[in-house]
Amino acid sequence: MEQPLVKNAFDVLEVRKDFPILSELPYGKPLVYFDNAATSQKPQVVIDALVNYYTHYNANVHRGVHFLSQKASDAFDGVREKVRGFINAASEREIIFVRGTTEGVNLVAATYGRKNIQQGDTILVSAMEHHSNIVPWQLLCEEKGARLNVIPMNDRGELVLDTLDELLNDNCKFVSITHTANSLGTINPLETVIAKAHERNIPVLVDGAQAVAHEYVDVQALDCDFFVFSAHKMLGPTGIGAVYGKLHLLEDMPPYHGGGEMIKSVSFKGTTWNDVPYKFEAGTPNIADVIAMGAAIDYWNSIDRVGAHEQEIELLNYCTSLLADIPAVRIIGTAKNKAAVISFVVDKVNAMDIGMFLDTKGIAVRTGQHCAEPVMDWFGIPGTIRASFMFYNTKEEIDFFIEQLKKAIQLLAV
Ligand code: ALA
Repeated sequence: MEQPLVKNAFDVLEVRKDFPILSELPYGKPLVYFDNAATSQKPQVVIDALVNYYTHYNANVHRGVHFLSQKASDAFDGVREKVRGFINAASEREIIFVRGTTEGVNLVAATYGRKNIQQGDTILVSAMEHHSNIVPWQLLCEEKGARLNVIPMNDRGELVLDTLDELLNDNCKFVSITHTANSLGTINPLETVIAKAHERNIPVLVDGAQAVAHEYVDVQALDCDFFVFSAHKMLGPTGIGAVYGKLHLLEDMPPYHGGGEMIKSVSFKGTTWNDVPYKFEAGTPNIADVIAMGAAIDYWNSIDRVGAHEQEIELLNYCTSLLADIPAVRIIGTAKNKAAVISFVVDKVNAMDIGMFLDTKGIAVRTGQHCAEPVMDWFGIPGTIRASFMFYNTKEEIDFFIEQLKKAIQLLAV
């Protein structure tokens, strides 16, 4: 029998119903939420998962024989497998729960870094990193007498790899690089960077904060050694995220924080560590948010991800072309390979003033340095206006945004 054709149309209006906040009316106006790179909105199922846990089975995990603790432990433990599947790690033991991307980078710097980086070594980052993928390495460099090197970028905000071989010299002992730049939207050629680093046995950490909700992430295909991300940028709650690390690296790393859970046995003579990944998870974990992160992953698995991605690319192209028609606007970050993030500046108008004007119309954008001061310095600007899209945004919202932006320019240009 002939298979019926499956229509793969992504129904954005239907999907929007899953996100209750999209019906909010800031200042009595329909919300236009274009600040998804800062944090995504949450579907009802994620909110329900939080409320459900606290309402029906709030208990500590791995510590009780009672019904509630068993139920909480089962729900909590099941999420490690969901995260594994979401980024296609080889084993759930390679998944460590942390507060988010920032803690993830700090964990790797404080464990792998402290053990393996020595005086005179270099750590390589890129020119388009978020502060969270710069400062932990600077702290480590300061402690160890090591140096931070930077892969440069061009004026489109793309990495320039001409000097990569030189930068990956004998002193280089670690590479930490963003998948997708939060301030520019650039998607980096990670395959090239990782392959070249691995030719010299240099491990690579990928900051996946901006990528994880917009690209299919497959850590085995990428062959990165570490991958870190936050749940709140991928429809989950704040305060939770994960570190992926190749098992043999995690096994060899010292613990991060000390406390309960991360030990096998404690005595005043000495303490032995628990197995990976628990060795890195001291104390009562963030149970509710882990469970809600699992609900976010279930949600991703329930939607048409190809359609969602196409919707974002359509929004990116549509908004880019409309912005290009406004003479006063200059887009910052015009890489060929971009995520649905548009940073721009406006002649003679302060970014913050534009942001505040748009806010009065119910439009949420981010303005400023986006925690990427070196990027702003490189472009010689104090900051940008950034519109960042998620699959639940619409072309109609972009039309309204452009209309209001033009009004703001007319009103505010000095
Ligand atoms: N890192 C977040 C952003 O890009 C907060 O806005």
